[in-house]
This record gives sequence, C-alpha cells and structure tokens, in this order.
Amino acid sequence: MKSLRLREILSMKGEGQTLRAEGWIKTLRTSGSVIFVELSDGSCMRNLQIVVPRPSEAADTLSNLGTGAAIACEGVLVASQGKGQSVELQGQQVEVFGNADSSYPLQKKRHSFEFLREIAHLRPRTNTIGAVARVRSTLAYAIHTYFVEHGFAYVHTPIITGSDAEGAGKMFQVTTLDLDEVAAGKHTDKESGKVAYNKDFFTKKTHLSVSGQLNGEAYALALRDIYTFGPTFRAENSNTPRHLAEFWMVEPEMAFCTLEGDMQWAEDFLKFIFKYVLDHCAEDMEFFNKWIEPGIIEKVQNVINTPFVHMTYTEAVDALIASKKNFEFPVSWGVDLQTEHERYLTEELHNGPVIVTDYPKGIKAFYMKLNDDNETVRGMDVLVPRLGEIIGGSEREADYDTLLRRIGECGMDPKDYEWYLDLRRYGSVPHAGFGLGFARALLYITGVQNIREAIPFPRYSGHSEF
Ligand code: 4AD
Ligand code: MG
Repeated sequence: MKSLRLREILSMKGEGQTLRAEGWIKTLRTSGSVIFVELSDGSCMRNLQIVVPRPSEAADTLSNLGTGAAIACEGVLVASQGKGQSVELQGQQVEVFGNADSSYPLQKKRHSFEFLREIAHLRPRTNTIGAVARVRSTLAYAIHTYFVEHGFAYVHTPIITGSDAEGAGKMFQVTTLDLDEVAAGKHTDKESGKVAYNKDFFTKKTHLSVSGQLNGEAYALALRDIYTFGPTFRAENSNTPRHLAEFWMVEPEMAFCTLEGDMQWAEDFLKFIFKYVLDHCAEDMEFFNKWIEPGIIEKVQNVINTPFVHMTYTEAVDALIASKKNFEFPVSWGVDLQTEHERYLTEELHNGPVIVTDYPKGIKAFYMKLNDDNETVRGMDVLVPRLGEIIGGSEREADYDTLLRRIGECGMDPKDYEWYLDLRRYGSVPHAGFGLGFARALLYITGVQNIREAIPFPRYSGHSEF
C-alpha cells in the first residue's frame, strides 16, 4: 500500500478509502469502546485522528505504546463526526516501528522554549518548532525564487577566509595547530615570539567568514547581479534575543547600482518573501497568529502593504532627540542606533518599516561609499517594528584611492585587501548590496521571541551541543 504523508491524507475527503498512515503518536487516549490516537508526521501542522475499536488486536498493540512512539496504521478514511477535524482514520492494523517510554520528554502539551532548547534534537516534534522549520524551508525557497525570477546568479562564497572580512564582528579562528602545543611554546616563531602561522594549514591566520559580501562583489563585477545565501559566523558575546554566533545570511550584490536602487531592491525583496510565506504557509501562520504572537499575520501584511519610509541618520537622530524620550542609551549625532531607538522610529514615529541612510562613517564598515561631506557613508539599514534592524547594506566605495584611504583609517592592512582593491583598479563601477539575516527574517515573520527558536540547532556562547 502506498504510504502517504499526513498532509496529503488530511487534504482528502473521507470517502471510505483504505490507506496507511505513518507518524509519531502525539496523544493516546482510551474512551469507552475506542482508543483515540493523535498522529503527527510533521508534514503539516495538523494531526490525524485515528480511532481504533476495542477490544481488538490493534487496540492491544496500542495499549503498550507511549507518547512519541512511531507507528503505521492501516484503516479506512471517513468523514469525522467529532469537532476539530474533517476526516479520521478508522484504524484496523497497527505496526510499531519504535516505541517511546515514559522518559520521552515531550509528554506535556506545552513546554518553555528554554526547556526545549535543551532537547533541540526532539523539539522539532513540537507544534511551534515544527511550524518554524516548515516556514524556514519555505522562506529559503522564496528567497531563491525571488532572485531566480529577477535574473540573479547564485554564488557560493567561501566560509574560511584569510581577511578580516569587514570588521563586522569578532571572528572565530580556524587552525589545525594544536592549541595545547601552542601553549607549550611549540609553534612559536623564534624571531617575533608570536605564533608561527606559516606552519598552520593555510600558512596564515584564518577565520570563519562574517559575511560573503566581499567575495560576492567580485562576482557582481563579473556577472552583474548575484546573491549569496550561506552560513556566517560572529563570535560576539551578545547574549540578546536577536544574535546568534552562527547564522545564515542572504546577500545580493548589484553592479551598476547605487544606494537608491539598493533600497528599492531591499524593499521589493522583503515584501516578496513575506508575501510568499503568507501565501504558502497559511496553516502555520494561523498557528503563530493564535498561539505565538497575536496579530502577527496582520503585522506582516502591514510590512507588505506599507511603503518604507526613508530618512537619513541625521534626521533620525534629530527625531529621537525631539521625542524627549528617556532612552536607556542617550542619543547624539555619531552614536550607533540601538534597538530601542530603532523601535521608536518604526513603532511610534512612522508605524511601519523605515530605511535609515547616510550613517556617520565611524560606525559603519570601511567599504561603504563615502559621501561628499567626508563624514557620512552611503549605508542603509532597514528597520521593522518589534525587531529593529533586519537588513544592513550600502553602496560600495568604488573609487580606488578613497577605498585605500578608508582601509588605512580603519586600521586595516591594505595588503590583506589587494584583491578587493583590484576590483576598483580594473573596471570599477558603482555597485551596491545588502544582507538579510535569515533567522532575523524568520523571527520576524513567525513572531517567536528569541532568535534561538528560528534556527534548528542554535549556536551561541557556551552552546554548541547537538
Ligand atoms: O548589518 P550586517 O553586519 O551587514 C553585513 O554583514 C553586510 N556584509 C551585508 C551586505 O551589505 N552584504 O549584517 C546583515 C544582517 C543584519 O541586518 C541582521 O539581520 C543579520 O545580518 N545579523 C545577524 N543575525 C543573527 N545573528 C547575528 N549575530 C547577526 N548579525 C547580523
Ligand atoms: Mg548592520
């Protein structure tokens, strides 16, 4: 007999067809002359209700099973008399794949997210994390769909890098040197007294990449419009609900494009992928709307339907000062905007997404195009209500001399950026791009409170198990 996913079975009419369902037992309950099983296989939010008469061989088999057990059940699909489901399976035969005893941690219906993080290998079997995983998969597909439809080439940028990509965060070092041997003085360069990286695997100090952008630029300046979508790593110890040490980032890069075009792409892209999820994950979104963040569907729709407001950093700072709000981090021109400021701009001042541009050069990366004022750069952050920054991007400095100067001003070694400077030496053009934190986007759209719920196996300080 063909085995069907529960998503397929649950979309059928119960017309007395015989079929086989497979999954994990969510609940098992005896009531008079029947046993009710709620079966789930994660292919959709809903469970299949199975009704097994007792006494029967199938009922005997079930009576030995616990929550979490994996079974197959053959039976007849009929319209359901009960509330809450349109069809149910009248179970006739039960096959057991693997039982689960009473130590199975997901016995209760609701657990705290903190508890679930400690069983990250089992939490995808819960309603919420299962739904997040399905939406995550659809969101990734939406991203590829958008870029394919708009003629972008997908480029795989390296994960190990020999340059301190952009000072975007503290980096994880990659080495094959044995640190115990290093501590014992075994790999010391006699002259300098420092670690002899020429003996390391890459013969120089290397790290995990914080972004694919710089390599992406090389391909944009060859293929015109490209995007990268891969894992990035930041060793910041920021224990916030918005930061991970390992996260996926989507980074389009467009040649012959300035900041204005960059902002248009970012807005159009974000609206497309949000709409795609609302259109393709209706059931999961209803769940989030009801149980996780009331009104989340409408909030996402607002982002889709509202034109993004543009304001410069200077205007934003003026508005924050004029608000007379008592911010935890006081505002003055030159300081980096904190989440509380970003939330004021999006939630109170404009009630919708805001793109802030032209930040002081001192708080942004070296590669952002310098404005004529010599003080601000053509960077932009897309801010959304509830979250703050969801996208960061910029027009890139396309002028060789200015870029070289900025590298020096930022205390970096031009030798490490020879190849990047080459892109300005040979056929330089205005180009721009941005980065969307994939888990941030998922956090936003599902309404979960902590980014650790938006990635299957979260990596943050002190947490690398599973
Ligand atoms: O603003 P960021 O640092 O920009 C870049 O990395 C650029 N290279 C992007 C580009 O222009 N191609 O990071 C981009 C986005 C942020 O807006 C945020 O959504 C997300 O990445 N992000 C993080 N997400 C999870 N955990 C972290 N530690 C993050 N740091 C940044
Ligand atoms: Mg940023």
